[in-house]
Amino acid sequence: MSSQHEIPSYLTPQGIGPWAVYLEQIDRVTPYLGSLARWVETLKRPKRILIVDVPIERDDGTIAHFEGYRVQHNTSRGPGKGGVRFHQDVTLSEVMALSAWMTVKNAAVNVPYGGAKGGIRLDPRLLSQAELQRVTRRYTSEIGIIIGPNKDIPAPDVNTNEQVMAWMMDTYSMNEGSTSSGVVTGKPISLGGSLGRREATGRGVFVVGCEAATRIGMEIKGARIAVQGFGNVGSISARLFVEAGARVVAVQDHQSTVYAEAGLDVLALQEHVREHGGVGGFPGGEHISDRSRFWSVDCDILIPAALEQQITEQNAGQITAKIVIEGANGPTMPAADDILHDKGVLVVPDVIANAGGVTVSYFEWVQDFSSFFWTEDEINLRLTRIMREAFAGVWQLATEKKVSLRTAAFIVGCTRVLQAREMRGLYP
Ligand SMILES: NC(=O)c1ccc[n+]([C@@H]2O[C@H](COP(=O)([O-])OP(=O)(O)OC[C@H]3O[C@@H](n4cnc5c(N)ncnc54)[C@H](O)[C@@H]3O)[C@@H](O)[C@H]2O)c1
Repeated sequence: MSSQHEIPSYLTPQGIGPWAVYLEQIDRVTPYLGSLARWVETLKRPKRILIVDVPIERDDGTIAHFEGYRVQHNTSRGPGKGGVRFHQDVTLSEVMALSAWMTVKNAAVNVPYGGAKGGIRLDPRLLSQAELQRVTRRYTSEIGIIIGPNKDIPAPDVNTNEQVMAWMMDTYSMNEGSTSSGVVTGKPISLGGSLGRREATGRGVFVVGCEAATRIGMEIKGARIAVQGFGNVGSISARLFVEAGARVVAVQDHQSTVYAEAGLDVLALQEHVREHGGVGGFPGGEHISDRSRFWSVDCDILIPAALEQQITEQNAGQITAKIVIEGANGPTMPAADDILHDKGVLVVPDVIANAGGVTVSYFEWVQDFSSFFWTEDEINLRLTRIMREAFAGVWQLATEKKVSLRTAAFIVGCTRVLQAREMRGLYP
């Protein structure tokens, strides 16, 4: 039919970006969806996209405008759920892909959400705290028409944190006329946030990393780890692996690449990043000036935990790790996936590996609704159980169907979403 365009008119075929990676992943899973494949177009079309202008008055009295997005990819299984990213390179294609990965992820770990994502195209390092607050509040007001505790629940992502979530919660609540703590997750504990949420994504990466290592007979004790991105996800997973006896031999962030064969002092590195905004200048290791050498560092486990499209056809061949755990969303290009597969590298895909964050976000949302809060032990226990079960299910399916863990995770996730779609039927 003439209405069946692969690429929507609002994306240019030349610069389609991360959305193209997602579409290719959907094409790879489609043959495994059986009769549900007739619904697969649903997954290739975001349900709703809102693009907003975010104007603020700068501290110096000038007016600045920023581009903001909220994309609700799919809400067949529940309200939209997904983070908000502040980054100078945010694009519509990127937010679309991130929202779609949330749809698949939420279904793959079976939390009752659809997929959504948001972003503002700005470099937060160039704004004061007061300006950042104004941007956040105006953006929240602009997307307020489509978010809400039962509609779409934002959370932190790259360059956003508990403070940003507190401003979002306050702005939404002021506009509604009543305190609405369930509108965002990843809030400060004092505002209805959940114990364990800050560490949840990194903890999930660690849990599935241990599961993957066990399956291939690798010991975590003594394993060498390389981590790209030393923010929330990267630093916490690094710390947990070190606590389990591994050593972190290399860390790369936007500033620098730091290496130490004997292992970096991860706590000291965290402290350094808190003070200096990145790993640049950290005295406890050797700084490698050629950033591309990060990918060939000798290691057992590689954790990309920064941005998407980092592992490419060019560098995949250099990777020495036996396991790649995708802390970041979309870090591996499909062609690189194939290279890693051929080399026998086990890739634990983002939609399982970094699902710990949304799982504890789900716990936070449930706690806010019931106004009854759980202990950190309860949260970590439930998180670990969900992550292990999801990993085991995906592992088993991958073994049965002789497919990669990514394809298996997509089979599980997409099947759940399309079953829900089919059962609900089309409105009207
Ligand atoms: N925060 C969460 O709960 C969560 C949940 C699921 C997935 N993720 C994903 O994890 C990834 C990291 O998110 P985060 O919350 O840790 O963000 P963050 O802002 O806390 O940290 C991002 C890190 O990436 C680094 N980075 C940025 N550009 C880089 C580059 N070009 N090269 C190397 N490093 C670079 C930064 O220096 C920083 O260390 C993202 O892909 C995000 O979508 C986050």
